Amino acid sequence: MIEIRPVEGIRGEINVPGDKSISHRAAILGALSKEGITVGNFSTGEDCKTTLTCLKALGCEITKSDYKSGEKDLTDLDHLRSDAVGFENKVTIKAPKGLREPKNILDAGNSGTTARLLLGLISGIPNLFAVIDGDESLKGRPMGRVTGPLISMGAKIDGRDFGNRLPLSVRGKKLNGGTHVLQVASAQVKTAILLAGLNGQGPTTAIEPNTTRDHTEIMLEHLGVPISKCGLKTTVYPTSLINGGSWNIPGDFSSAAFWIVAAAITRESELQIKNVNVNPTRTGLLNVLKRMGLIYSIENETLSGGEKTATIVVKSSSLEGTKVMPEEIPSLIDELPLLAVAATQAEGITEVTGAEELRVKESDRIHAMAVGLKKLGAQIKETKDGWIIRGKTALAGGKTRSCGDHRVAMALAVASLVATSPLYLEGESCVRISYPGFFETLRKLTQNTKAKERIQS
Ligand code: S3P
Repeated sequence: MIEIRPVEGIRGEINVPGDKSISHRAAILGALSKEGITVGNFSTGEDCKTTLTCLKALGCEITKSDYKSGEKDLTDLDHLRSDAVGFENKVTIKAPKGLREPKNILDAGNSGTTARLLLGLISGIPNLFAVIDGDESLKGRPMGRVTGPLISMGAKIDGRDFGNRLPLSVRGKKLNGGTHVLQVASAQVKTAILLAGLNGQGPTTAIEPNTTRDHTEIMLEHLGVPISKCGLKTTVYPTSLINGGSWNIPGDFSSAAFWIVAAAITRESELQIKNVNVNPTRTGLLNVLKRMGLIYSIENETLSGGEKTATIVVKSSSLEGTKVMPEEIPSLIDELPLLAVAATQAEGITEVTGAEELRVKESDRIHAMAVGLKKLGAQIKETKDGWIIRGKTALAGGKTRSCGDHRVAMALAVASLVATSPLYLEGESCVRISYPGFFETLRKLTQNTKAKERIQS
């Protein structure tokens, strides 16, 4: 359990870890490259280490180098520094001899992106066989959304619940291409189809119901892989091997988001978050918070690996309630727990609809946030696909739980910054999944926060 004390304001300049979605994709595309993909600022989150571990078991060579330690084989993936900022954590992923059958079950741990993207990758590689499993949370999450389209391309996949739940076995083969209309707006599903299509017999098209994060498309284009995109329709063409490439991964907007909301809702705050990915398919939270009255600016925009990168400057803001529409949801899907926190500090009513996907994340995030925030005194009503939140409420401290979900843990920690007494958060260690240095950064930004200190319950 961790104690987090309310603070007066958040001031300073920070970096956040490399983007998790981009790190997964760079690693997985490296597995299709003989020369290798080298990326700086690889995500320090456990989910991305999980992807590297699985790729190693599939025969990839993975090395890490930085100016301090020189080059090392990444047998012990702990060489990734959790407190790294800037462009340490430089990782090279390559498969000079192609992929080989792993001896053991591939453990995707808590990571939906690892499981779903690997299903796409392995499905298209003739004769490659693997079994993919995950932790209790991942075993409960739907896989049929990925295995359905892959099976219709000819993939040989089977497993629990007729291929809808892990563990799943997959035997790769030369797949048909074809056009696939996605049933859910999911970048993981789109990416799995496109990855499988890279080894297909003809063009493969994914049509999404709504725009989702486009990191795969940007990265493929950056690496020179033939790809075309027209609105919601993305097509890849068979490509036997991917050329190598080297670039720095920008900071994760989803990690920066905690500090954006923290600075907005606390008094006398001013924060600069440097080198953050500001890809518009990811920054829906900024659009919603702007409507609510957020004071912010985006400065020093550049491109890295085809991705927009910038400094985000945020100040304390007086927020007002808003309506978040279903079509906005994919652009802030991972930030919705945090938006619920911001809504408790906004005058009036905030309503989120069309977010039923939150029920099948690492936890049921609609429920987890409603329970967590209610415990702190918020006026929040859980609906089937979102929340209705009435603000502004003076939150109290007290004891609450992360439900083993990294984004819930960090969102509740941010809520506690404006509480009237300390928060005692149970199960805080899950932040390692995406942001191992979260509490260190919180401590750095807020002198009176007792991060890491264990409190007797
Ligand atoms: C991700 C896509 C989203 C997101 C997840 C990462 C990705 O999931 O919630 O954290 O890297 O493609 P869905 O594809 O299930 O929406």
